[in-house]
Order: sequence, then structure tokens, then C-alpha cells
Amino acid sequence: MTRKSFLALWGGLVLFFSGGVQAAFEGGDPAAGEAKAALCGGCHGMDGNSPDATFPRLAGQYEGYIVKQLRDFQTGLRTNNDTMAGMAATVATIQDAKDIAAYYSRQKMAKKPLAPIDKKLATKGEKLFNEGNPRSGVYGCINCHGPRGKGRAKHISQFPVIGGQHRDYLIKQLKDFKEGRRYNDPAGMMVDIAKRLTDEEIRAVSEYLAAQLP
Ligand code: HEC
Ligand code: HEC
Repeated sequence: MTRKSFLALWGGLVLFFSGGVQAAFEGGDPAAGEAKAALCGGCHGMDGNSPDATFPRLAGQYEGYIVKQLRDFQTGLRTNNDTMAGMAATVATIQDAKDIAAYYSRQKMAKKPLAPIDKKLATKGEKLFNEGNPRSGVYGCINCHGPRGKGRAKHISQFPVIGGQHRDYLIKQLKDFKEGRRYNDPAGMMVDIAKRLTDEEIRAVSEYLAAQLP
């Protein structure tokens, strides 16, 4: 894809998503969500800062993105984890999903990474994150995921917060996108990018992102 057509596609998607689709995701009740999240807390942490990289941090994640992932697990669009598919099946209504998501989105991300950061590797990852790789046609992640992976404006929550996420979880997702195990991304945006990344680039960018704490 050329840079120009890519930008046109991206601009179109942002416009599309910032319209009515997003409005349907808003308005969960965080207080009700706290009680409904008791089961989730067992793996993701009650404050959304899970103590194990198998379980992604949900603290500070966009409400709309959490709801979308729960629905994708429920409808079988996201198939890359059977355990989580089973958990999503216990969320009975869309209101429950919104309430839980509202609760987690309001939790603060912990300030410590789970594993020590390899600074040299992280510096390589930072370059890829900000500038992409023109030779392999990788567009800079910053364009969709915002500075330091902290997301963009709230109304375009399709682009999740990835800065501060656990390194090994990020590596798994990028490999899942690359190798065809995860394909629930709108318009195949992430699959197209992940396919162009080398394993070394995946490790470097995940190292950088894991260090982008509050
Ligand atoms: C038994 C452990 C376990 C429990 C309990 C659990 N989850 Fe998960 N969850 C996982 C795992 C593992 C993943 C990562 C899946 C993967 O590797 O792609 C995950 C992923 C997610 C994601 C995707 C996050 C992202 O960044 O894409 C969301 C959202 C989520 N869980 C919400 C919930 C909610 C809400 C509950 C409670 C109803 C819950 N989980 C209960 C194990 C669990
Ligand atoms: C064109 C926009 C776009 C670009 C550029 C982009 N992403 Fe994404 N990314 C997305 C979207 C949209 C999703 C959410 C997919 C979904 O709904 O499941 C996503 C999801 C992800 C996830 C999964 C997060 C989670 O919590 O499970 C990771 C990891 C990720 N991107 C990393 C990257 C990296 C690293 C780069 C740069 C090499 C990048 N992205 C570039 C749009 C983009």
C-alpha cells in the first residue's frame, strides 16, 4: 500500500468510527461494574493491573475497546484464547460488559513493569514505533496508537492503549496477528502491519511499549 492510499484509508476509518458506532459503546456504570468484575479480577487484577503477563492489563484501557473485545470473544470473532472466550461467555448482557469496561477504564495503570526493561532493545523499538519501517512498508504505530502508545482521543477508542501493557502479552498478540490466530481487527489493519514485522522488530517494539508507564 502506498503512503497516500494508506493515509486515505486511515482517515476514512477514523471518520467512520468516530460516528454513531462509537456512541453505542459509551455510558457504562463503573460502580455497578466493580461488583460485576469480581470474576475478572482473579486473572486481570481487581485494579486491572494483572500480576502475570498472560493476562493483559485492563487498567486505563478504553471502555469501547474492552466492550468490543468481549463481544468479539463472545461471537467467535476473536479466537486466540479459549480461556478468555469462556470468561466472556459469563458476561450476560451488553450492559454488564459496558459496566465492567467502565470500571476498568477508570483504574490507574501501575507504574512498574513486570519484567526489567532492556533499554537498548527498547530504543530500537521506539524508532519503529514512531517512524515505522519504510523498507518493509510498516507505518509508524504512533499514527494509530498515539504518542507512547497511550491512545488517541477518547471517541476513537478503536485504537487501544498499548503503552504500559505487559511485554509478553504484546509479543503474543503481534505474533497472533502475524500468523493468523487473531483477525478481529477492523479492516485487517493490524494483520497487514504485523505480517510485515520481523520477530526481532516485534520483540523490540514490545520492549519499548512495556516501558511506557504513567
Ligand atoms: C482465568 C483467567 C481469566 C479470567 C477470569 C478473565 N480473563 Fe480476560 N483474558 C484472559 C487471558 C489469558 C487473556 C489474553 C488472551 C490472549 O492471549 O489473547 C484475556 C484477555 C482479555 C481481554 C482483551 C484485552 C486486550 O487488551 O485485548 C479483555 C477485554 C478481557 N480479558 C476481559 C475480561 C473480563 C471482563 C473478565 C471477567 C468477566 C475476564 N477477562 C476474566 C484470562 C482471563
Ligand atoms: C492503521 C492503524 C494502526 C496502526 C498503524 C497500528 N495499529 Fe495496532 N491496532 C490497530 C487497531 C484498530 C487495533 C485493535 C484491533 C481490535 O479491534 O481487536 C490494534 C491492536 C493492536 C494490538 C493489540 C492490543 C491488545 O490489547 O490486544 C497491538 C499489540 C498493536 N496493535 C500493536 C501495534 C504496533 C506495534 C504497531 C506498529 C508496528 C501498530 N499496532 C500499528 C490499529 C493500528
